[in-house]
Amino acid sequence: MNLRAITVTGRPFIRSHCNIMETADRNYYITTPIYYVNAHPHLGHAYSTILADAAVRLHRELGADTLLLTGSDEHGDKIAQAAEKRGMAPKLFVDEISSSFRDLWPKLSIKYDTFTRTTDAAHVAIVQKFLQRIYDAGDIYFGEFGGHYCYGCERFYTEKELENGLCPQHQTKPQFISEKNYFFRMSAYLPWLREFLENNPDLIRPTRYRAEAMAMLENGVLEDLCISRPKSRLTWGIELPFDQDYVCYVWFDALVSYISGIGWPDGSQFERFWPGEHLIAKDILKPHAIFWPCMLKAAGLPIYRHLDVHGYWLSRDTKMSKSLGNVIDPLAMAQKYGLDAFRYFLLREMRFGSDASFSEEGITTRINADLANDLGNLFSRVLSMAAKYLDSTVPAMDGINSDDSELAEPCRETMANYIQLAERMEFSLALENLWQFVRSLNKYVDTQAPWSLYKNKELDKLHMVMGGLLAAMRKIAICLWPVMPDAAEKMLAQLGCESRLGPDMPLANIEKEQASFEWLPAGLKLAPSSNLFPRMEASPKNAPASDKKDKDAADTPKIEHVDFDTFKKLDIRVGTIVHAGKHPNADRILKLEIDFGPGGKRHILSGLAEAYNPADIIGRKICAVLNLPPRKIRGLVSEGMVLTAEDDNSLTLLAPDAKMSNGSIIG
Ligand code: ME8
Ligand code: MG
Repeated sequence: MNLRAITVTGRPFIRSHCNIMETADRNYYITTPIYYVNAHPHLGHAYSTILADAAVRLHRELGADTLLLTGSDEHGDKIAQAAEKRGMAPKLFVDEISSSFRDLWPKLSIKYDTFTRTTDAAHVAIVQKFLQRIYDAGDIYFGEFGGHYCYGCERFYTEKELENGLCPQHQTKPQFISEKNYFFRMSAYLPWLREFLENNPDLIRPTRYRAEAMAMLENGVLEDLCISRPKSRLTWGIELPFDQDYVCYVWFDALVSYISGIGWPDGSQFERFWPGEHLIAKDILKPHAIFWPCMLKAAGLPIYRHLDVHGYWLSRDTKMSKSLGNVIDPLAMAQKYGLDAFRYFLLREMRFGSDASFSEEGITTRINADLANDLGNLFSRVLSMAAKYLDSTVPAMDGINSDDSELAEPCRETMANYIQLAERMEFSLALENLWQFVRSLNKYVDTQAPWSLYKNKELDKLHMVMGGLLAAMRKIAICLWPVMPDAAEKMLAQLGCESRLGPDMPLANIEKEQASFEWLPAGLKLAPSSNLFPRMEASPKNAPASDKKDKDAADTPKIEHVDFDTFKKLDIRVGTIVHAGKHPNADRILKLEIDFGPGGKRHILSGLAEAYNPADIIGRKICAVLNLPPRKIRGLVSEGMVLTAEDDNSLTLLAPDAKMSNGSIIG
């Protein structure tokens, strides 16, 4: 059979085969953002840190020396205010939350090398040195400035940047503050930065964020950066080395952690690892794309290698936020679905640079389709056939060349694409591409039918087929180690292979593995069976309105009681339909937008099309269940269920008997 060449762009990537010696002394340094400690870690923080961990593991498999820096951003108004709310001294407060970040990472299989806290004495001293250097060079000056200050963003906005007088991020009215402050002469570096971005098209990835940074430089709103706060207003910060009445602006302090954490100016890690690569989400593009390169340039330091920018995880298609109550706890998810499956889901589901929607149904679907059906099934089938036909022992392949396997070339090509995509943080595409290969292996089992080869005593052919599958499965495990470290080790163990290159080392050198396709050593003992990813029960679905009653069931009524507590769990509320239209792909369904007052607006799909005209129900009060899991119906997501009454002839909406406000509780 002819296994299709697997390509991503329509034609295979040509990868230059750098030799191993060349890559062995390559250093790879990546940072996550230094997270604010005003609240506990959530899914978004976990995603960035898992992605950085996967990148580091990939580079370790590529033979690089690696360093992963993460940490906590502990100064500034936002933190001081959060501490005050809890009635705690700022230092005690940040100690507590910072450890909740630090303790979480190992539980998600994240191996960081450095955790920088911006309240560490070493960091404080380095920020002061950095400030002094720029001050001495004449790029920090004292001046008076009036501006619109947003406490949420911890920054001043110019008139031009406000939207209808409101902060564009928070939609709140900023406070006008006029005071004397220190300024970084950033405007002097902007022409240089523009040219630098032009000459380094790959610096900010993906390109849409490079374009966004370029646009910031073009539209002329950038000015010098106010880098101080008077102590009369804020004391929770790093004192300026040249004026003890002022503390440093929190962003100027936080960005420096990327070099303080590796011992700037003369630490050996700094020598070896700078310049590194930064990973962030789109929310903090500006400080990273504009402020930081100008700061580095002013201090005479090389600019970072790459700025990798990912999108937002949305929860129920809206931004996660504490006030909406839709913040997702990453540890709870990892415990519920399994850590490897959780990491796989995150890296597979989010296209690098775009937003992605988080749902438990989404995880369940990926687990069942990709992990249980495709990958798990491959391991389970091949190992159980090996038990039956090969006594769970890798056969001797005397005289059969591994390159003659039909799987050799597709495997090499898949791995080359995988490496190339993952190196660019495109893990989603890399995994998609790898899964095409996994699925092609399942098809290969079907078409080669090892059971017939065994029955017909075609042993050479049987060995060729089984040997090829086992070899390819080992390569898949090696590719997956950055994404699913534990599962990958389990896979290798089931194949009887050494699970790592040495203590605390990656599984293998992926570049070397990519270049060759070799049989597993004869005589290796294989696991007799495999159940890597058991199927998950699908989350309970909304019961669809049934078309016809089940008469038999009606004849013998069986009452199933629900206890009162279960009933009380339902969140049923009054709302007003503000928008109604036809579902583009389902005739019976109307697409409604419903206002639930303080709970906000939601999109709900309902089988009303035969009973109502969309235009007639706009403005109608309805009742709806809000805490059902979101459900996709023909491509659109429904975030709840509208209550209706139905008899044999008609269907009608339920509504409260008297005027009730949106969001009123029913129960
Ligand atoms: O901005 N989806 O800290 P922060 C994906 N202290 N990623 C998300 C996310 C979401 N919904 N929400 C947060 C700060 N993140 C500064 C950084 S760096 C020198 C200083 C992740 O706690 C993402 O990485 O607000 C985002 O950039 C970061 O958390 C913001 O974290
Ligand atoms: Mg933030």
